Amino acid sequence: MSRPILLTGGAGFIGSHIAVEVARAGHTPVILDNLCNSKASVLDRLRTIVGRPVEFVKGDIRDGELMRKVLREHRIAAVVHLAGLKAVGESVQKPLEYWDNNVVGTLRMLEAMQDCGVRSLVFSSSATVYGEPEQLPITERHRLMATSPYGQTKLAIERMLCDLSASDPRWHLCLLRYFNPVGAHESGLIGEDPNGIPNNLMPFVLKVANGQFKELSVWGGDYPTPDGTGVRDYIHVVDLAAGHLAALQKLDTMRCEAVNLGTGHGSSVLELVRTFERVNGVKVPFVMKDRRPGDVTSCFADPSLALSRLGWKTKRTLEDMCRDAWRWQQSPAARGN
Ligand code: NAD
Ligand code: WQD
Repeated sequence: MSRPILLTGGAGFIGSHIAVEVARAGHTPVILDNLCNSKASVLDRLRTIVGRPVEFVKGDIRDGELMRKVLREHRIAAVVHLAGLKAVGESVQKPLEYWDNNVVGTLRMLEAMQDCGVRSLVFSSSATVYGEPEQLPITERHRLMATSPYGQTKLAIERMLCDLSASDPRWHLCLLRYFNPVGAHESGLIGEDPNGIPNNLMPFVLKVANGQFKELSVWGGDYPTPDGTGVRDYIHVVDLAAGHLAALQKLDTMRCEAVNLGTGHGSSVLELVRTFERVNGVKVPFVMKDRRPGDVTSCFADPSLALSRLGWKTKRTLEDMCRDAWRWQQSPAARGN
């Protein structure tokens, strides 16, 4: 049965890929986004991929009246809540903006959902809620702790959702904790398009490969890992999007559950760089630098709960992530056209 699914922040990197999966599954994605970190042009490209227009509302999750209107007029069955600010470094400089946008925004949205009787929600959480890992791989029972204002907002929202669930059994809530999403849709039409100098590894690698930057700085070559560089669980954004569909399908059986979305496999910075060079036939010059403050040595998921609870696991490899990200980077859309 076709269901209208509201994607807050759906014009962004991850949300646009979820819109494709939701449409492919026969549901109706409705994107609500204030475009503070995305562009309306993504809608044209989504229409090309899914073969029909995707509904879009320009607006802010903090606008309760608008949220009520959208929930009612579109007869929304469930919400995938991605809208938020996500830059760890910026959150240290602008903590109030992060608390307002992420936490107050979520609160206003939940009030609107409660008023409209929409009580099904999948939330974009992050492995950042685990802080410095105590055990690897990381299970959902790992202790929670935040090391940045951004991380604090994710933890605060998780707690707000669990309190809400405890207050009323009619809520169905799933907290998806993403590891490191990278890659792009295989069409090359949608992908990650960060403003300014990228902080994250894959976006920076792409801009070195296309000549925008001379070289990649590898932050730390003296970690206790096989090649000395940091290890992360990179997950293809299309696999991640499929995980949301699996969560939506199981939502009715959940009260408030946290589930990791990762591959279960860690890759080092140099492994990613070498894989990228090999599959794409391009050079990514790099220099070794000191460790980046706040970085952990290794972080990767135990994804077994996602398999048992959602029937979901990743299908795409690091090669696929590198190939698809590069295809996107070379498309006119990634150059702002
Ligand atoms: P993104 O910035 O590309 O997408 C977020 C979207 O939300 C943007 O289109 C932005 O314009 C919109 N937005 C922000 N504040 C809004 C508001 N108040 N009202 C309406 N729209 C608003 O980021 P992304 O990488 O697609 O991340 C999506 C979600 O996943 C975020 O909540 C992020 O914290 C979470 N997450 C991302 C990663 C990652 O590495 N990309 C990892 C873990 C969790
Ligand atoms: C990956 C590895 C770096 C850039 C961040 C957030 C996290 C989550 C995902 C939202 C590390 C190394 C990086 C570069 C490098 N986001 N690196 N040179 O730090 O694991 O996670 O994004 O929830 O909360 O903290 O991702 O891509 O920045 O770094 O050597 O120019 O690449 O040191 O080992 P990170 P990342």
